[in-house]
Amino acid sequence: MIDLHDIRYVHLGTPDLDSAVEFATKVVGLQQARRDGNRVYLRGDNRDHTLCYFEGDPADHTVGFEVSTADMLEAAGAELDNAGHRVDYGRNDACDTRRCQRFITFRDPSGNRIELVWRPQDNGGRRYFPTRDAGITDFSHVGLCSTDPVRDEAFWTRVCNARVSDWIGDAPLLRIDEVHHKIALFPSKKPGIQHINHQVAGIDDIMRAWYFLKERGVRIVFGPGRHPTSGAMFLYFEGPHGMIYEYSTGVSRITDEDGHRPRQFPFTPEGFCMWGSKPDIAEFRD
Ligand SMILES: [Fe+2]
Repeated sequence: MIDLHDIRYVHLGTPDLDSAVEFATKVVGLQQARRDGNRVYLRGDNRDHTLCYFEGDPADHTVGFEVSTADMLEAAGAELDNAGHRVDYGRNDACDTRRCQRFITFRDPSGNRIELVWRPQDNGGRRYFPTRDAGITDFSHVGLCSTDPVRDEAFWTRVCNARVSDWIGDAPLLRIDEVHHKIALFPSKKPGIQHINHQVAGIDDIMRAWYFLKERGVRIVFGPGRHPTSGAMFLYFEGPHGMIYEYSTGVSRITDEDGHRPRQFPFTPEGFCMWGSKPDIAEFRD
């Protein structure tokens, strides 16, 4: 069993690095940590980076998770190999681009590029200090496209240590620690990251962002609303190349690991929002 300690980063390709970074800093409210050739590192909390935009294909998405020890990374490589996943071991120059000591990379059953990193860098003791105060407290989870949520739930729960917190239709919300979910599988015809979540400090930040984004003509795709699953209040909006960003606050924690029983919610707008907001995304229009 692979023990994922926490979600760590997202790396996204873009053919227009400057405008993607401008959106990430001036709209989302991330801090530019550094620019390194064709890569720009951004952070949403005190870690070295939580998002990296690089010059490349906008369909090129990677999610990184941290594992705690070198032995665990080694064992994870062997386990993935046994389970039939091709595992590549990061070379030194690739470790530099991830700012970690060692990492491995593989694809989940839907074809999503996943990386496991060991000893990712801290940010050198400097506070996260963005130029736009969106109230972000941390990078917290991703929505991950799944071409078969039942199959992929089996992968994440049997090969990794993910546990189902709730289901929306066939799609599980998966936790790897006490936070209700760090991975939300989302039914799709192709792999990729469906959304990127940053937690914000409170409902004031959600509502302030709603007005801020509307004034700037940013497309709101869902919310403001409240998830009946995690209890989090949310706002989703569209970023570069159709990537959806989410702010949310108040996500529940599951502290009674043995006593928690996942609940079933419908794959309808009501399953995603208990206030009545309707998602304006393709999967609900088809
Ligand atoms: Fe989310």
